[in-house]
Amino acid sequence: MKAQIIDGRAVADRIRDQIAVEVSQFIEQHGYAPGLGVVMAGDHAPSATYVRMKRRACERVGITSVVHEMTANSTQAEVEAAIRKLNDDPTIHGILVQLPLPDAIDEEAALTLVSLEKDVDGFHPINIGRLGQKGRDPLFTPATPTGCMVLLEEAGVEISGANAVVVGRSNIVGMPMALMLIKANATVTVCHSRTQDLPSYLKEADIVIAAAGRAHFIQGEWLKPGATVIDVGTNRVDAPDTERGYKLVGDVDFDAALDVAGAITKVPGGVGPMTITMLLQNTLKAAQRSAQKSN
Ligand code: GUN
Repeated sequence: MKAQIIDGRAVADRIRDQIAVEVSQFIEQHGYAPGLGVVMAGDHAPSATYVRMKRRACERVGITSVVHEMTANSTQAEVEAAIRKLNDDPTIHGILVQLPLPDAIDEEAALTLVSLEKDVDGFHPINIGRLGQKGRDPLFTPATPTGCMVLLEEAGVEISGANAVVVGRSNIVGMPMALMLIKANATVTVCHSRTQDLPSYLKEADIVIAAAGRAHFIQGEWLKPGATVIDVGTNRVDAPDTERGYKLVGDVDFDAALDVAGAITKVPGGVGPMTITMLLQNTLKAAQRSAQKSN
């Protein structure tokens, strides 16, 4: 039997419609819109695309956005000044420091500076620390893993007690994903580039989160029959017959996995649309919290 396709695009559209309704209620009630401030430094081409997509998504639901665009030669002091300015700006409720920052910038110092209440990316060390601790809750959780959790819920997957394998340990996806799954009572294994015999771990996995950044890396035959597979990969591969000359593929060999998995996301149209949606949701939440505080 073929796996059920988890349609991230459809789920994201439904949540964005709901966010748009709540944003318009917020504006009616308070007379101003939720605002997102973005700091982007350097000339990382995918970052420019992501930031453009995030701004367009904000606009569509009625969230205002501003971008501090800085060159690759920006200094630590300049990046920190941009963050401080957004911290102090009452029209900005959420702050996003687009990663990666240029090599010369101390990322941890920059992220630590973001006001906790505005940390809609959930990357402030205190928010990440709370995510990793029992009985503590971060104010915000990172967008991509949060989107994966929503997709698991949408697919009706029982997370508590499940064996989950996260492939990849990045600060943006793999590590916070593992922490979120632990909080949801899964038994979690994190596999990575030094893992020996990845298939032996995947064979036991009821839930697979593929975030290795390697095109079509995870083979269908490695999966446990009936597993739920969330593919976070967005890898460019050459496609000379397309207009752009490339196409995006996931970390999982989708066609092969379709015959083994119980449910699976597509690339594109799976996790991607959810990531931006979770950012919008966090920005709305930040504005609602801030309005409540000042009441
Ligand atoms: N770079 C790639 N993904 C992300 C993300 O979710 N947030 C930020 N700030 N930077 C990223």
